[in-house]
Amino acid sequence: MTFSIKVNGSQHSVDVDGDTPLLWVLRDNLGLTGTKYGCDAGLCGACTIHLGGVVTRSCGVAVQDAGDREIVTIEALGGSHPLQDAWVEKDVSQCGYCQAGQIMTAAALVANGAKPTDAEIDAAMTNICRCGTYNRIRAAIKRASGQV
Ligand code: FES
Ligand code: FES
Repeated sequence: MTFSIKVNGSQHSVDVDGDTPLLWVLRDNLGLTGTKYGCDAGLCGACTIHLGGVVTRSCGVAVQDAGDREIVTIEALGGSHPLQDAWVEKDVSQCGYCQAGQIMTAAALVANGAKPTDAEIDAAMTNICRCGTYNRIRAAIKRASGQV
């Protein structure tokens, strides 16, 4: 079946089964491989996107349920988002696998000039990092939001 979805400001038609997770539509049909596959169970956050402005784990949303909500992926940040600059400055990444998802979760947290507290960061940043970069992630979010 053909579905029309809006991704990073552009409309796309994809011919897939309706129960195909957005994660695979993004990666396999649209070539947006910045969104990663981790647990496939909504737990790790490697597949995090924004769906209708809400932080969403794309492994758990079928394409047929996306409707006309705008999908935003890590590619939309363009490499020069303040978070990405802060990530480099704070040398956050180790293996890097989780980091696109981390940044997408953080992007919602610092949107519209928000300056999240440590408690707000801890509450929002539920993505898992096997390399344990959590302290540097917090520092980079503080940096990107102009708090340090
Ligand atoms: S792959 Fe989606 S939450 Fe882990
Ligand atoms: S940097 Fe390796 S899993 Fe997070």
